[in-house]
Amino acid sequence: MKPYYHEEPITIYNANILDQDLFKTPFIDLIVTSPPYNVGIEYNRHSDTLSYEEYLEFSRSWLENCYRWSKPTARLCLNVPLDKNKGGLKPVGADLTKIAQEVGWSYQSTIVWNEGNISRRTAWGSWMSASAPYVIAPVELIIVFYKERWKKDYRGRSDISKEEFMEWTNGLWTFPGESKKRIGHPAPFPRELPRRCIKLFSYVGDTIFDPFLGSGTTLIEAALLDRRGIGVEIDPGYCALARQRIMDHVAISTEG
Ligand SMILES: C[S@@+](CC[C@H](N)C(=O)[O-])C[C@H]1O[C@@H](n2cnc3c(N)ncnc32)[C@H](O)[C@@H]1O
Repeated sequence: MKPYYHEEPITIYNANILDQDLFKTPFIDLIVTSPPYNVGIEYNRHSDTLSYEEYLEFSRSWLENCYRWSKPTARLCLNVPLDKNKGGLKPVGADLTKIAQEVGWSYQSTIVWNEGNISRRTAWGSWMSASAPYVIAPVELIIVFYKERWKKDYRGRSDISKEEFMEWTNGLWTFPGESKKRIGHPAPFPRELPRRCIKLFSYVGDTIFDPFLGSGTTLIEAALLDRRGIGVEIDPGYCALARQRIMDHVAISTEG
């Protein structure tokens, strides 16, 4: 398939991640991604208001495809909400953990990302009454999985500092979310999220994959950290945004 954009070390495909035939051979060392949450966000080309059953089937399909395209020691960092209340209370993180394991991914650990977004605290249920109070944690999860073996079977170069390693192996991460307005995408994650995952879980030169590329955040960090970056995004407008952000942030080699 012809890429939408290719300039070493970055490739963007304008495609549907549900298409099983997108890639022929395993190439992925690390996936860092945030799929649609099914909370009614207005994406140009994806309905974010599926029934919960349809959403779980959608999740199963893309998790299966990514598993197929992953190398045996590939890892998956899956950024999802802990739970949700729009359209009914659901334990999204728990359900996706179960589905990922059903398609073959092995569970490694869960990082809790405290984004300190207290503005979500608008629904109280029953105010100061035990009648039906509503509890919500202002956090998201980064659930970490691997394909066949957690230990990498080759010696590569790590570029993480002692301080970063000590801080980030504590699974409570605190940094703010990203502004939709500033980026021009309805649900971007902050650069800090893929930066930490990439430095902690991949070697320099590894191939990083984001099946839901959006505004390109994962690939910006992949390129800045001397990894290869491959992304898939269904909407051509977001592909254009990702390409522009990558060109703005990364001095890409145009040799050859
Ligand atoms: C939560 S956003 C990802 C945002 C990204 N992490 C960033 O920082 O910009 C999810 C993205 O998945 C895309 N998407 C939805 N369904 C898709 C599909 N079937 N195949 C590929 N991309 C899809 C949406 O258009 C949206 O841009």
